[in-house]
Amino acid sequence: MTAFDFNGRHVFVAGGSSGINLGIADAFASHGASLSILGRSQDRLDAALAQLRAHGGRAEGHSADVRDAAAVSAALQRAHQQFGAIDVLVSGAAGNFLAPALGMSANGFKTVVDIDLLGSFNVLRGAHEFLRKPGALAISISASQAFVPTPFQAHVCAAKAGVDMLTRVLALEWGADGIRVNSIVPGPIEGTEGIRRLAPNDTERQRIAARVPLGRFGRVDEIAGIAMMLASPLGAYITGVVLPVDGGISLTGPRDFGAAWAATRHGS
Ligand code: HXC
Ligand code: NAP
Repeated sequence: MTAFDFNGRHVFVAGGSSGINLGIADAFASHGASLSILGRSQDRLDAALAQLRAHGGRAEGHSADVRDAAAVSAALQRAHQQFGAIDVLVSGAAGNFLAPALGMSANGFKTVVDIDLLGSFNVLRGAHEFLRKPGALAISISASQAFVPTPFQAHVCAAKAGVDMLTRVLALEWGADGIRVNSIVPGPIEGTEGIRRLAPNDTERQRIAARVPLGRFGRVDEIAGIAMMLASPLGAYITGVVLPVDGGISLTGPRDFGAAWAATRHGS
């Protein structure tokens, strides 16, 4: 196993105050990086900062909504003043709920598209002037809904497909600056908010695990390790890639969250 060393590196994680994104931030902090994390809730940011600092990293938090381009740019500017040029940018803020398209208002659909897709654009576009050139890496956190049509997930499917196309376009546009742009596509990751929303009970979780070719949920550290690999010299020639880290579940076709949706509706 290669020893990762991110001493002196600045890692900015949008959505870094919980779950998979916090796991990614923590992995970089534990390997020497300075961390900037962005989210809406100050309480969640404070708890995450305590964790990151306890693991050895310098860390600062920025309360902002990724849907607000000006607020995101201001946070990126503050982070640049605090820790210098950004070496690794992670765009992972996302929202989700289960609903059929007919049970989703235009604003419900727009809300998720705005957080996931417009938010990613705001983070990536806003960060460009603060990224190290050459050498920076941008990672968007996608989901298999980007390429597996999934009932009750019309908003996420549309948004994450857009996120992955943004990855490919920016890899083309920013290659000349020496900036790499990739997507990581996590599979179902145990203990996360995403799974609590999509598989709210043991029956649903077992049903999903049985569909994973590797037969189990993934762990946050298995996503964080791939983010570090991409940011290390091992990943230096990888750009424009949409990389599933999912135990093979995206090979198995659409999931149906109908039972889980019905359970949320009937409060069972
Ligand atoms: C139908 C719903 C709904 C539901 C909200 N809406 N929940 N519609 N069914 N269950 C509608 C509302 O009625 C409203 O439309 C619109 O969505 C906006 O709702 P708000 O509550 O005002 O939005 P906001 O406060 O901005 O919150 C956004 C959110 C919220 C997405 C609704 O849940 C959130 O902040 N989530 C962040 C955390 C999260 O979701 N983490 C999981 C990411 S995991 P109207 O028309 O009434 O105004 C992920 C999974 C990947 O992405 C795959 C895993 C396998
Ligand atoms: P999570 O714990 O809910 O994390 C979401 C993070 O984004 C939080 O820090 C949240 O903080 C922040 N956020 C949400 N909306 C925001 C907004 N409008 N502006 C700024 N920050 C916002 O989610 P998770 O389950 O770990 O998922 C993380 C990422 O992995 C997402 O991109 C998700 O789509 C992807 N993913 C997850 C799974 C899974 O199994 N969980 C599978 C595939 C892909 P605030 O709420 O305080 O703002």
